[in-house]
Amino acid sequence: MKKALITGITGQDGSYLAELLLGEGYQVHGIVRRVALEDPQHRMWRIRHLLEDIHLHSASLESYPSLFNVVRQVQPAECYHLAAQSFVSYSFEDEFSTLNTNINGTHYMLSAIKEAAPRCRFYFAASSEMFGKAAEVPQNEQTPFHPRSSYGISKVAGFHLTRNYREAYGLHASCGILYNHESPRRGFEFVTRKISHQLARIKLGLDSQLRLGNLEAKRDWGHAADYVRAMWLMLQQEQPDDYVISTGSCHTVREFCDIAFSHAGLHYEDYVVVDERFFRPAEVDVLMGDCSKAQNVMGWNYDRSFTDLVQEMVDSDLRFVADQCRAGIGFGSQHDQSH
Ligand code: GDD
Repeated sequence: MKKALITGITGQDGSYLAELLLGEGYQVHGIVRRVALEDPQHRMWRIRHLLEDIHLHSASLESYPSLFNVVRQVQPAECYHLAAQSFVSYSFEDEFSTLNTNINGTHYMLSAIKEAAPRCRFYFAASSEMFGKAAEVPQNEQTPFHPRSSYGISKVAGFHLTRNYREAYGLHASCGILYNHESPRRGFEFVTRKISHQLARIKLGLDSQLRLGNLEAKRDWGHAADYVRAMWLMLQQEQPDDYVISTGSCHTVREFCDIAFSHAGLHYEDYVVVDERFFRPAEVDVLMGDCSKAQNVMGWNYDRSFTDLVQEMVDSDLRFVADQCRAGIGFGSQHDQSH
């Protein structure tokens, strides 16, 4: 049985990827932080339904020996490195920990694979944030990088590290340059989930406002479940390479709000308040990807509509908040809008 190792298995992408790999017949191993193992209720909600079927190992992105030991012990055929400090806003608050965790974590994983499992195929979760103040729209694999945050800089470093391990040591190492990808499992700090969750609280009478930053930012939003398939496809290719994964169209945060609130029978203008605290010191105004290479080389396609994605998230959060209310936990500050 083929073994796959996922860092960041408790996150949105990790959970969808674990489901996909189990479906493909893999033995799935995941790296989690010790705190997650100690608090599965809060930290493993996305993979609770998989816990019987997967193997979890405690290790930290900050500790090379801990990662090396897991790689040596598991001997994976494929490794998906998804773990990172992935919230762009937070990277402005603490550049140092974002750079340390993201760059060193990727470097440690690459080095551990090279030393302990050199035939293992490696996937690095790069990001469209690497394009930042992009020189062209849409962006493709040739577009120059111009990151606008330490998060973006850390992903550029991880991208170059991965490519260098491929070129210098012959590792089958690929980078997925993924654009924003969402789902009902998205973290609450990201704008899409913040909108769908707070909107559900408003709809159910628990709150009256949604405080947001830049409503004019444009993003190319796809569905995470389709994007993890692209990760897997990259490691099934004979040659390692780098691919843009995107929908090819973009929308503003304002449009997301409009569709979300309309779906719940509300007008976003009545509830959304623009709050300076949520603006970023350096914003990425527009990201839109050209995924022709992924389509042509790997046969990856995306055919969901933006409206369906927004509505799925809203419906899910309406159920989620209603369930919380029934359980008597909906009335406190579930979301303090601090993100
Ligand atoms: N989070 C947040 N909260 N974003 C807001 C808010 C707010 O209240 N108001 C406006 N925005 C705008 C941000 O300024 C940004 O332009 C856009 O909404 C999207 O923000 P996020 O959802 O936080 O995602 P991101 O684009 O910064 O980063 C995500 O996508 C990247 C790929 O492009 C993350 O998933 C990254 O990890 C990923 O690499």
